[in-house]
Amino acid sequence: MPITTCIFDAYGTLFDVAAAARIAAAEPGRGDFAACWPAIAGHWRLKQLQYTWLRAVMGQHLEFWQVTQDGLDWALEAEGMGDDAELRERLLQLYWELEAYPEVPEMLAALKAGGMNTGILSNGSPEMLAGAVQSAGIGGVLDDVLSVEDVGIFKPASVVYDLVGKRFGCAPDEVLFVSSNCWDACAAAGYGFTTAWVNRAGEPVDRLPAQPLHRLNDLRGIPDLAGG
Ligand code: LAC
Repeated sequence: MPITTCIFDAYGTLFDVAAAARIAAAEPGRGDFAACWPAIAGHWRLKQLQYTWLRAVMGQHLEFWQVTQDGLDWALEAEGMGDDAELRERLLQLYWELEAYPEVPEMLAALKAGGMNTGILSNGSPEMLAGAVQSAGIGGVLDDVLSVEDVGIFKPASVVYDLVGKRFGCAPDEVLFVSSNCWDACAAAGYGFTTAWVNRAGEPVDRLPAQPLHRLNDLRGIPDLAGG
């Protein structure tokens, strides 16, 4: 079936999750943080994701905003900065208004010009996603923003991927699902979506039952994949 609908993961795919720590580290008076921000950003992301997977398995869902704070608290404590409440607040504020990757607005506009449905499918809570979409200025080129809060469990639970067909009335193989999280692209491929993994960091592929069909270094090639 031809692709009719392009669905994007949010954090790390459209929005640069490292931007919060990178921007804070460049601010005046952040010497200690400037020295260790890459480690904190890495711990923060990994713990945030681990907590989503664990909570899904444990049946103990919490909104992604709380999980994001829990991951940050772990990361700050691990690097000896757990007492810096001002830094914590600043990082959370920056996470709320993350930058999109530079190619995102043009890529989404090209999809819309080609007649595609476009949307986000994310672990993020609706309020977080609205904040990021607004600060990135991409609301006009997205048909919808779908959140796991509608089903109360995080990816990669298949009921999350079900939200796409319910919203857009399309079969799984009409969907091009795009994620920078390899595990998300693998799970979506197993679900039946056509998938593209955006591997900006040049990481190895995850060893999971299904593999992404396409692999890209950034999002510029998505309109061609969707149209071809
Ligand atoms: C999301 C996370 C997984 O946006 O990046 O769903």
